[in-house]
Amino acid sequence: MKKLLLLLTLSIFTLSNTFAYEGMWLPSVISKERLKDMKKKGFRLSADDIYSINKASLKDAVVLLSGCTGEIISNKGLILTNHHCGYGQIQFHSSIEHDYLTNGFSAANLAGELPSNNYWASILVRMDDVTAKMNEGVTSDMNEESKQAKLNANKASIIAAATKGNGYRAKVEALYYTNQYFIFVHERYDDVRLVCAPPSAIGKFGGDTDNWMWPRHTGDFSMFRIYANKDNKPAQYSKDNVPYTPKRSFKISIAGVKENDFTFIYGFPGRTSEYLFSDAVKYIAYKSNPTKIALRDIRLDIIKAAMNENPVTRIQYSAKTARIANAWKKWQGEAGGIVKLDAIGKKQAMESKFAIWAKGKPEYENLIPEFTKLYAAIEPYAYVTDYYNEAIKAIEASGKASQFAGLTHEKLNPKTLNKIKADMDLYFKNYDATIDEAIANKLLLSYIENIDSKYIPEYIPRNEDEIKVMFSNYFQTSIFTSKERFDKVMAMEYESVINMIKNDPFYRFQHFFAKIYNEKVKNQHSKLNSDITALYKNFMRGQMEMQPNREFYPDANSTLRIAYGNIVGFNPKDGVRYNPISTLDGVIVKDNPEIYDYKVPAKLHEVYKNKDFGRWEENGTVPVCILASNHTTGGNSGSPILNGKGELIGLNFDRCWESTMSDIIYDNDMCRNIGVDIRYVLFLVEKVCGAGYLIDEMEITEK
Ligand code: ARG
Ligand code: GLU
Repeated sequence: MKKLLLLLTLSIFTLSNTFAYEGMWLPSVISKERLKDMKKKGFRLSADDIYSINKASLKDAVVLLSGCTGEIISNKGLILTNHHCGYGQIQFHSSIEHDYLTNGFSAANLAGELPSNNYWASILVRMDDVTAKMNEGVTSDMNEESKQAKLNANKASIIAAATKGNGYRAKVEALYYTNQYFIFVHERYDDVRLVCAPPSAIGKFGGDTDNWMWPRHTGDFSMFRIYANKDNKPAQYSKDNVPYTPKRSFKISIAGVKENDFTFIYGFPGRTSEYLFSDAVKYIAYKSNPTKIALRDIRLDIIKAAMNENPVTRIQYSAKTARIANAWKKWQGEAGGIVKLDAIGKKQAMESKFAIWAKGKPEYENLIPEFTKLYAAIEPYAYVTDYYNEAIKAIEASGKASQFAGLTHEKLNPKTLNKIKADMDLYFKNYDATIDEAIANKLLLSYIENIDSKYIPEYIPRNEDEIKVMFSNYFQTSIFTSKERFDKVMAMEYESVINMIKNDPFYRFQHFFAKIYNEKVKNQHSKLNSDITALYKNFMRGQMEMQPNREFYPDANSTLRIAYGNIVGFNPKDGVRYNPISTLDGVIVKDNPEIYDYKVPAKLHEVYKNKDFGRWEENGTVPVCILASNHTTGGNSGSPILNGKGELIGLNFDRCWESTMSDIIYDNDMCRNIGVDIRYVLFLVEKVCGAGYLIDEMEITEK
């Protein structure tokens, strides 16, 4: 009997001791069990090496880089991130004479590094649990409004205390649906300069076709450098600034990776919803995503046809299409993954268990029926909101006109006028009214056909032919569809400027749609949303009470996290196995000079032909991309992929589209992140960009 008991405890112990690779963990509070699991899987460091406020730790080498993640890879503040993260800066410095997007860029020396345009790097100083302080003076008898007011006041004083006299920035973020609060104190550097970027034909190789896909061959990297003042402190750009000396930088390992190697990712994942109620998941998979996908299909079909016909349109619409297509493809993978994993069934099973457990517990016993009720109530509003965003606001002229909603006579002066002109020049530079008109006709028709008439302004026609006539008139007269007409208006008296804008057909169009939306949808939608959020606070706490042995992780919220996993392939569908490593041979196989996104640059061809792979070579080629089981999301782009010793082996930039349900439900067998092997990055820096001197700055180990 004793033996059996021992055996049982042992097996329970071993079972509960091998965790799945799910989770985005707060680095300052990694539990003992978690650390043990990481070590068992190949982690070779201590908790202190990851995060410490008493000594330099890896956290000091991870930066939040204007929404993406970046990492410091030299003691002179050199940072590595993705090409798609640096894209805006590369584009900002590009011109016809210096087309860095097409040709790539590398500074010849420090003096040649290009100051950026509103691009910053933020390093975490510390993070602390401030739950008790946040809840001080908040009592259960307070109404929602006074509760919020008290919380806001507490938050303000916590932030003030943490930033007093040190120049730091801080934010307090709720975790687990406000069951916990953490403060994140950052030091932000605003002088960040462009150092090196490959040609887009490498950094964006495969374009939107390969985006979210494996096998992948994209060299998605760019390099920047943080500059500081003479005291190594943050400063606005000045030519007197010097390269920042970090507390810590990442050592780079070029020893190579193989399947099953341990990896971890350190970065700033944006948003996940891992504890979503089943009805919300159902809405996403069966209604929201399919609706948004179909509406984007309309736009993408029209734009792509025009891009194929006209090279000017290709340039005008390339960044826009990339943006539209990125979420469009992700949503497809997400909806498919939810169905494939039976996420709804799994959630429902958990909820049934919860309902039984909650019986007789007043805080919890009504949650499940309340959720069901509120989600049923919110769905019609959510649906109109999806449609409004993806149809009405997606007509470019309408979206642009809406930006003028707050403009008044008083706000007009030479300075604002110049700003408007500059913004509109940019808008018209990448605008094609023919495309927008074709899109407008289809989107509005779809809106009319799918949305209740009460959410449509009365003057809007209800059939295809009349819509066409209406838009044809709008597109021939609106100032938001012709630069010539817009510029003419801008040259008028202020009063006429305002009049012309406010009487413009597209201004009126968006105005009346917005009015109806605000009156009949917005408030109801956000009221229901906050009621639902309030339920989640209890639901989350209840789940933690119900499963005391399960370790929970907070949803991502753009705060610093660790995810660990391994280098591993997967079976995306029956009969198909993906290997986790791609190579330069595959880049050359995909080469197609006829297709814009697959045109391998001549320089890379030459290096390949000469097999000039240097120390980056493995088995007669160069490794390019890697697949791993780290739990990541948007915002993790540019994150370091590290080996068990905390050395840099790659750079995260994507997930497989079959994996994108991991924002809602993670699965060990299906969820994979995609990174570029560090050896491909360094190979490109040296052999293609000709910036080998940068490599001398880095600490590289071959072991
Ligand atoms: N899918 C990646 C992300 O979500 C990369 C996007 C940029 N690349 C592209 N081809 N659109 O950000
Ligand atoms: N490309 C995404 C980013 O910019 C990462 C892909 C994802 O995992 O969502 O953060």
